[in-house]
Amino acid sequence: MSVVLEGRDLAREYSAKRGMFSPPATVKALAGVSFDLETGKTLAVVGESGSGKSTLARLVTMIEEPSRGTLRINGVDLATATAKDRRDLRRHVQIVFQNPYGSLNPRQTIGAALEEPLLVNTDMPAAERARAARDMMARVGLRPEYVDRYPHMFSGGQRQRIAIARALMLRPKILVLDEPVSALDVSIRAQVLNLLAELQQEFGLAYLFISHDLSVVRHIADTVMVIYLGHAVEVGSRDAIFSAPQHPYTRALLSATPVADPLAKKERIVLQGELPSPFDPPKGCPFNPRCPLAHARCVQNPPLETKHGRLVACWAVEG
Ligand SMILES: Nc1ncnc2c1ncn2[C@@H]1O[C@H](COP(=O)(O)OP(=O)(O)O)[C@@H](O)[C@H]1O
Ligand code: SF4
Ligand SMILES: [Mg+2]
Repeated sequence: MSVVLEGRDLAREYSAKRGMFSPPATVKALAGVSFDLETGKTLAVVGESGSGKSTLARLVTMIEEPSRGTLRINGVDLATATAKDRRDLRRHVQIVFQNPYGSLNPRQTIGAALEEPLLVNTDMPAAERARAARDMMARVGLRPEYVDRYPHMFSGGQRQRIAIARALMLRPKILVLDEPVSALDVSIRAQVLNLLAELQQEFGLAYLFISHDLSVVRHIADTVMVIYLGHAVEVGSRDAIFSAPQHPYTRALLSATPVADPLAKKERIVLQGELPSPFDPPKGCPFNPRCPLAHARCVQNPPLETKHGRLVACWAVEG
């Protein structure tokens, strides 16, 4: 299997004004994360709101540049890529957002929305574009004769199918899914997740699947990266993360999600307090102010090390 997306020590900082009289401060939205994503596989990135997930999505989709680190898409290092490389890579990486309303023009028919990427990026004749749009409608489970309808005429789940269809029109290799089912009713979520799994098979897509909710990625993820305040705190196979989570933060996230078997005994770990301000991150382990196992040594930041068959950054996890 080939690696289509590779990140090494990726970081992104923002400078932001905190108030009228204070000088601008630096936010470390992403503090150096590394990962590999292979063709046809799903890397899930999970963490609370504000942990840096969308920042990572903006780097991978080339909307923003990293402040540090290396990003390779399809083997091409973005730091040394030519303008033509970048244009090609932009086609290979497409994004689906939480709210498809934001990416669909309310005055554009679905057919026009689906044809637009082809119109802008290819010299495909009009009749072929129209056929491609109808084909893609069918593939995402919508009736092709709806091409002349407008976004408001569809339900939330159908609109998300349209956003997915549009993202696939240029046959990308990588799809960045930023909370793709978080705005949908629970009853619709499984349908859209199943559709994503089918499309992944059919098109050999690699998914960077972002979610604040660990339970959402339980079936679709191959690898899970748990991030906290811009740091990867645990990275491992789906089985390792779900059957034997090691980091106290992963355990807390997992214990907060509903269990399928209501009779299963589960200790519930409640996350204390709020995510600290990213302007003023804790010293040492970023999780220490909320960690039930915090200890004197946690004033030092623990390294991300292999323990129990996954990577974990925690002094309390024995090797
Ligand atoms: N353009 C920006 N300017 C300043 N701060 C930003 C900007 N974008 C994101 N941030 C900050 O970076 C952190 C991570 O944000 P984000 O990546 O959106 O997190 P998530 O998607 O996990 O909710 C947050 O503290 C956010 O306020
Ligand atoms: S290093 Fe310390 S504070 Fe951080 S998660 Fe482990 S025990 Fe908790
Ligand atoms: Mg986000």
